[in-house]
Amino acid sequence: MRRKAFATAALVALGLAGPLSADPVDDKLIVNGETELVTHTKAPDYIDGLDEIWSGWAFRAAETRAIEADDFDNPGMIFVEDAEAVWNRVEGGAGKSCASCHGDPSSMKGVRTVMPKYNEKAGDLWSLEDYINDCRVNRMQAEAWGWNDKDMVNMTALISVQSRGMPMNVAIDGPAKPYWEKGREMYYTRTGQLELSCANCHEDHYGDMIRADHLSQGQINGFPTYRLKNAKLNSIHARFKGCVRDTRAATYKPGSPEFHALELYVASRGNGLSVEGVAVRN
Ligand code: HEC
Ligand code: HEC
Repeated sequence: MRRKAFATAALVALGLAGPLSADPVDDKLIVNGETELVTHTKAPDYIDGLDEIWSGWAFRAAETRAIEADDFDNPGMIFVEDAEAVWNRVEGGAGKSCASCHGDPSSMKGVRTVMPKYNEKAGDLWSLEDYINDCRVNRMQAEAWGWNDKDMVNMTALISVQSRGMPMNVAIDGPAKPYWEKGREMYYTRTGQLELSCANCHEDHYGDMIRADHLSQGQINGFPTYRLKNAKLNSIHARFKGCVRDTRAATYKPGSPEFHALELYVASRGNGLSVEGVAVRN
């Protein structure tokens, strides 16, 4: 009923001849046998196109799901450990580490659930990466990290893990509203040679198989994600870039205003799903 047809060009390019469908699994994600995560719940009422929301975890194969359920098996946790060392490392002209001011990483509990958010002082929408670089540059007098630098992505993982199991809860009203509206427009705009929008794949066709991939709702509650494909942690904006490129459109840069707005909108589609920190995906 919710499924709609792909445009013909896309059908051919994606190798789709009447897509096969496989529903998400209604399994429970309990990490380390103790923390139960919400991977499936009612969609927020401001999302018209979905009744229910699902974590990308529910669309992955049983083996991949099992890896995420145990920190000893989850290769992403090695990068979290790397970030812990960086958290304690003194760097920059001020002679400080993250720990000098923030103490234990557990002080970051809850931070990931509300990102991205409007920053009053900057007068702009900030992602977790912006907050980290603000501290590095203005409080440590250290160099900014690039958006997809290993240290940056690993640090976002360390911070995300502190919120594991807490529901995503980004604000979309007040000063965040124009960003959210811009993100929503991007989400529904068809782009590229294939004339596909995010919604064409992740709203109209989640559950379908495209090539060897089981299409999810493209949620970001699990980010940064460890991908079996490239054996490292991947940022939200890097994932957006890949998906836009797949529609054969010119894509935006990680950290661009466009991807900030899109991140807020996509995050809001997953309000209510647990922060997974760090998810395992294909
Ligand atoms: C000199 C002290 C200092 C250092 C060093 C420092 N920070 Fe901060 N950080 C702050 C202050 C102050 C704030 C703002 C707190 C507020 O206004 O809520 C902040 C805010 C943040 C926030 C946003 C938290 C939120 O609730 O919105 C993050 C994330 C963060 N810091 C990460 C880091 C990381 C990672 C490092 C190391 C790379 C670091 N900080 C180093 C002082 C510091
Ligand atoms: C041609 C279909 C297609 C389009 C269009 C598309 N994606 Fe994707 N996307 C995929 C596939 C395939 C995957 C990998 C399987 C999965 O998780 O759905 C994926 C994965 C993702 C993921 C990772 C989900 C997770 O749980 O790890 C996110 C986030 C995402 N897409 C966001 C977007 C956004 C935002 C757009 C629009 C800019 C978009 N996608 C457009 C096909 C598409």
